[in-house]
Amino acid sequence: MGSRETSDAIASAHTTFYSWSKLTASERSKALRKWYDLIISNKEELALLMTLEQGKPIKEALGEVNYGASFIEYFAEEAKRIYGDIIPPTLSDRRLLVLKQPVGVVGAITPWNFPLAMITRKVGPALACGCTVVVKPSEFTPLTALAAADLALQAGIPAGALNVVMGNAPEIGDALLQSTQVRKITFTGSTAVGKKLMAGSADTVKKVSLELGGNAPCIVFDDADIDVAIKGSLAAKFRNSGQTCVCANRILVQEGIYEKFASAFIKAVQSLQVGNGLEESTSQGPLINEAAVQKVEKFIKDATSKGAHIMLGGKRHSLGMTFYEPTVVGNVSNDMLLFREEAFGPVAPLVPFKTEEDAIHMANDTNAGLAAYIFTKSIPRSWRVSEALEYGLVGVNEGLISTEVAPFGGVKQSGLGREGSKYGVDEYLELKYICMGNLN
Ligand code: SIN
Repeated sequence: MGSRETSDAIASAHTTFYSWSKLTASERSKALRKWYDLIISNKEELALLMTLEQGKPIKEALGEVNYGASFIEYFAEEAKRIYGDIIPPTLSDRRLLVLKQPVGVVGAITPWNFPLAMITRKVGPALACGCTVVVKPSEFTPLTALAAADLALQAGIPAGALNVVMGNAPEIGDALLQSTQVRKITFTGSTAVGKKLMAGSADTVKKVSLELGGNAPCIVFDDADIDVAIKGSLAAKFRNSGQTCVCANRILVQEGIYEKFASAFIKAVQSLQVGNGLEESTSQGPLINEAAVQKVEKFIKDATSKGAHIMLGGKRHSLGMTFYEPTVVGNVSNDMLLFREEAFGPVAPLVPFKTEEDAIHMANDTNAGLAAYIFTKSIPRSWRVSEALEYGLVGVNEGLISTEVAPFGGVKQSGLGREGSKYGVDEYLELKYICMGNLN
């Protein structure tokens, strides 16, 4: 598909907006709830499809189906709680009201690393608010998107309310940006593409929300519970083989615990099973494509040429194709690509630090600001550091923090707006002020 099909989809979304947005909140809620039920009753098939097209291990794929479905369930409920306001008037013969209304047609551009959840986290609140949507899934994972859309149709969500276009990505993107009928762009993906979409939205002054790249620090203090820190940093680093925007990208370890942490962490990483995602024992699948492997290789070469040392792995896996060995790199410093940019692969750089101030400084020394993790047993320190970190999400003694009930999103160049939670609907609503005068 290209510009013509995208324009057709926009036209269909635009026509359907007038009927979908006029339904009662309860009617939209029921349709979303049915979609949720259908996703759950087809979860094995969806997970299988996801593992086949994306490569993530089947257990993780099943986890993503539940995670993805949870946004539909949550926003089916939230649809009924989109309240306006009544403002105390400044003149006695007036009444001042605030209505919340859907923004209109939404263009949603989603990535391959969460082929279902990144769609439902956008489409769930959009449909709940009364918007209609044109989704462009990643060209690497279109099948999960189509399967989810088919289930939406079966649930009674009208064809025009949820449209999926795939194919020529630049043409589709341009058609969405240029259309005056598309009133909002929501995107999850790289910071570079996010900036282009933001610039491209300026011409038609669209509302924009962006969930972009991260460079998550995972700070392990001397006073951490080592078992909790190992479990949490392993989960934060190796989820989806390191291919998430919230993956720990730099593991900052305080000097007093560095050696002990490094040897326990290496042992834990050695236990990760690389292989075919359809095998139950596999915990690490392949990377998405050859370019992803080459990026990891470039980062490793850069780090070793500047004095880092490979403590484990550091090369392509013997399985070949796009499998890469789970890797631990020691003595990483802030002049290396591994420190400065997202590796998006199964590589854990260990960075030693001396003081709490040093750790905060190193953690914030980046344009990214999505997720950060800290491990400490000190309650005052966990407050101090959480508040000092320039990030949208902070995990304290926990490496897996995403949930439909909490706001997800970044600061600085990691994005704009929040997804999920009660705040997630704000991105799909406009406020309308109504002043009723001469009431006496
Ligand atoms: C992402 O990597 O973009 C999303 C991760 C999550 O929802 O936890």
